[in-house]
Amino acid sequence: MKPPLFSTSSSSPTSLLIIRKARLTPCLFTLLAFILFVTILYGQDFMCIFSQQLQLVSDSNKPVPRAMKIRRKKLPFAIGKTEEGCDIFSGRWVRDELTRPLYEESDCPYIQPQLTCQEHGRPEKEYQHWRWQPHGCDLHRFNATLMLETLRGKRMMFVGDSLNRGQYVSLICLLHSIIPEDAKSMETFDSLTVFTAKEYNATIEFYWAPFLLESNADNAVVHRISDRVVRKGSIIKHGRNWKGVDILVLNSYLWWMTGLKMKVLLGSFDDEVKDIVEVSTEDAYRMAMKSMLRWVRLNMNPKKTRVFFTSMSPTHGKSIDWGGEPGGNCYNETSMIDDPTYWGSDSRKSVMQVIGDVFSKSKVPITFLNITQLSSYRKDAHTSIYKKQWNQLTPEQLANPASYADCVHWCLPGLQDTWNELLFTKLFYP
Ligand SMILES: *[C@@H]1O[C@H](CO)[C@@H](O)[C@H](O)[C@H]1NC(C)=O
Ligand SMILES: *[C@@H]1O[C@H](CO)[C@@H](O)[C@H](O)[C@H]1NC(C)=O
Ligand SMILES: *[C@@H]1O[C@H](CO)[C@@H](O)[C@H](O)[C@H]1NC(C)=O
Ligand SMILES: *[C@@H]1O[C@H](CO)[C@@H](O)[C@H](O)[C@H]1NC(C)=O
Repeated sequence: MKPPLFSTSSSSPTSLLIIRKARLTPCLFTLLAFILFVTILYGQDFMCIFSQQLQLVSDSNKPVPRAMKIRRKKLPFAIGKTEEGCDIFSGRWVRDELTRPLYEESDCPYIQPQLTCQEHGRPEKEYQHWRWQPHGCDLHRFNATLMLETLRGKRMMFVGDSLNRGQYVSLICLLHSIIPEDAKSMETFDSLTVFTAKEYNATIEFYWAPFLLESNADNAVVHRISDRVVRKGSIIKHGRNWKGVDILVLNSYLWWMTGLKMKVLLGSFDDEVKDIVEVSTEDAYRMAMKSMLRWVRLNMNPKKTRVFFTSMSPTHGKSIDWGGEPGGNCYNETSMIDDPTYWGSDSRKSVMQVIGDVFSKSKVPITFLNITQLSSYRKDAHTSIYKKQWNQLTPEQLANPASYADCVHWCLPGLQDTWNELLFTKLFYP
């Protein structure tokens, strides 16, 4: 391990660290009675009393009671710890020509043509040479052997939208080079893509569910629907396909951004007359987050499994957000935003608040991958016009490249490799 470049005392754990009391076992009744009694006495803090497999949720604003800290239990897969008090999501980008990128675009055959920027003519590679440096400590170096050994006989699954698919592919790219050619495969079955490392009997999978809940955008191929409808209370529809997974990485954000309102279906998609209500995006999103937490609580064993939730992936569709020319976007951007307080548009903020709110009130053991802020500086890292175009471009578009630039997705190798380095750190060194 390299010594830390910095040691700051100001860093605070803004991410949610969670260790969770697993399951009530014997003497259920006595225990329940006792819990009830203690709950009345101590309110929220009652969990402290049941010490050994204690749960804890910490966030920057609320100091963790000493008793909880001492009794923090080891999380599944943990082999070490990140320095106390180091928030790995708070830091800065450092130029690094030596160790970045972590792989070459041409060496990873699994990258979809929507993300292979070099192949599609991006003229420079500046975006590949950045390393994330937390303020309070160093990130652990990504170790593919350790990751694959850990996944032996196990399943890891990413569930969500195309951004989560990007992170999934990035992880495969980080791992595949140590697996011989004939000992790995990637196959797609409808919503599910499965990468298999045969000698490890391990799979790393991606499951398309852009809202996590059932929606009218669930078709893995044909899902460009402008009039989006999501069905309340339907997480089980997709969730049944995630059961039994050892490491689950969820995300959901982009598809909720349809405007100010979101259509929520109360009945079933089969109903002749559909019972649809319009609610604010925040309320709809909160509903989904709560469903997700509930699903995790009921279906994932906190003693054996880990669940991650990746926060919103920022977009760079309007240059005026960072003081650029009106009408511009991420097109032709090769440098990052250097204002450390840069955040971007406001809608993001309110959704991030919903996440912070729902997670901080919950005891469900989900590790939050807070990639939003660190990615928001990276206007240089999008695929822009350097990707496979599915439709023939019109002369008007060709005359104005910004008009068809993709400022949502990210080139690989690139930013999303950092997300996986953070995932790696949170998995092994929580
Ligand atoms: C995410 O990380 C940023 C940067 O450290 C921080 O400002 C923000 O409060 C964090 N958000 C949440 C919800 O933890
Ligand atoms: C990577 O992990 C493997 C398996 O745990 C270990 O033997 C090896 O020393 C690690 N490599 C580095 C560079 O830390
Ligand atoms: C392979 O892994 C699966 C879990 O993904 C497990 O059920 C199965 O028993 C394993 N098979 C062998 C031969 O280890
Ligand atoms: C791209 O940006 C550079 C400056 O960074 C500028 O000189 C050039 O004209 C821009 N190209 C286009 C096509 O906008």
